[in-house]
Amino acid sequence: MDAHLFVIFGGSGDLAKRKLLPALAGMVRHAGDVSCHVLGVGRTPMEESEYQDLAARSVAGLMGQPEAANWAKANVHYATTDEAGSGFEGLAERIVTIEQANSLPGNRVFYLAIPPKAFEGVVEGLGSVGLNSGPGWTRLVVEKPIGHDLASAVELNTNIHKVFDESQIYRIDHYLGKETVQNLLVFRFANHLFESTWNRDRIALVEITVAEDLGVEGRAGYYDQTGALRDMIQNHLTQLMTLIAMEPPVDFSADAIRDEKVKVLRSIQAIRRDDVVFGQYGPGAVDGESVPGYLEDPDVPVDSNTPTAVVMRLRLNSWRWQGVPFYLRTGKRFPERLTQIAVTYREPPVALFGIQHRDMLKPDVLRLELQPNEGFELYFDVKVPGNRLDIVSIPFHFSYDEAFGRIPEAYETLLADIVEGDQTLFVRADEVEAAWRLYQPILDDPPRSLPYGAGEWGPDEGDALLAHAESWFMPNSRVHRPHP
Ligand code: BG6
Repeated sequence: MDAHLFVIFGGSGDLAKRKLLPALAGMVRHAGDVSCHVLGVGRTPMEESEYQDLAARSVAGLMGQPEAANWAKANVHYATTDEAGSGFEGLAERIVTIEQANSLPGNRVFYLAIPPKAFEGVVEGLGSVGLNSGPGWTRLVVEKPIGHDLASAVELNTNIHKVFDESQIYRIDHYLGKETVQNLLVFRFANHLFESTWNRDRIALVEITVAEDLGVEGRAGYYDQTGALRDMIQNHLTQLMTLIAMEPPVDFSADAIRDEKVKVLRSIQAIRRDDVVFGQYGPGAVDGESVPGYLEDPDVPVDSNTPTAVVMRLRLNSWRWQGVPFYLRTGKRFPERLTQIAVTYREPPVALFGIQHRDMLKPDVLRLELQPNEGFELYFDVKVPGNRLDIVSIPFHFSYDEAFGRIPEAYETLLADIVEGDQTLFVRADEVEAAWRLYQPILDDPPRSLPYGAGEWGPDEGDALLAHAESWFMPNSRVHRPHP
């Protein structure tokens, strides 16, 4: 891993404190003796030592207090926005000073951990003083949201491309950093058993659920402008769907993989109105605790139609997936936190076991649980021992925890990839735009958000949409995990 300077715009913000600083410290620990200096850039004026204390507190859980303090003192720096905002020249000088003092070769990451409205100003500022290229490599990292619709995403990409080349740009969708999500590629393309059945001849339907038990947690101001379609579907769930549906790439290079993902997006038919259900949670109970409804949040307008849940059916117009519905479902204040992909196989062509056994026979289901209990289960039918012919569905089971123990944090993986220059897990400009293009008609004419109680799996109409799937695995659309 090359020695580098990691510049975080929004250096004292929540993302930096909670995710980036710990991930950088974790990365350095695992990479061995790599030289990584961090320059936090923020609006809040503070002494460098104060920022070092902040950084040390962020990483103390990882490396213990004394080591964290030493790490921060030696490697962490701070510049206020004045330096960045009122003069990128000052920032450029500061960068060179830090690099010279620490014998860094001029490799730089610029991470925009700032509100989207500030992205373009910073990018322009970096370009104005020539910080878009340097003595070593230069990379720009942009956090979601990449635009709030197709037009704004195209505009943002265009403006960034005036300053940075696509090969320098790393658009983060943190779901791609999750170990279980990366494993989808290995699972599919290293195991012939699954890949050879991964098509419309064998698979009846695919269901992708990202359920959260939390509500909007003090982010209502942001969330009400965003809603579940923009916040979760356009990025995280769509990314999962493309990894499940993509063709094998010609090789494992970033662009070969991303080409295949874009092709999936382009193959999706225009979304029909009756294939989308929006929901919004009302008061209810999650985990036995009463919680208020979305509209009761003081930062939410009383007549807000913003969806906190979305259920939709996608139809892919492709050789492999023609006629196989892909159901996407996400929501806040669902009964539990669960991200899963359930792939339901077709039933055998002939019912050999007679009418009385029909209800006992279940199609095979592959359930990939991406979080919180990372692993997968493959359900198949077996005969219950005894004289009678009773049949139950039993899972083969694999758990990351049992097999490997700790899984690295998504951000640690992503930051290491940025420093290594591997763009595979980052979203390309055309991919972001293709995803917005798909959902733009719904954004232009959104359906009414239908009520569901906090602690439920979304509105009844979403259940009805999922019930079309006629999958034993999700009766009435409930996430149903049979325990034989
Ligand atoms: C973020 C969304 O991108 O992802 C949040 O803005 C959501 O609303 C979060 O809670 C979910 O991420 P994770 O990793 O907790 O599943």
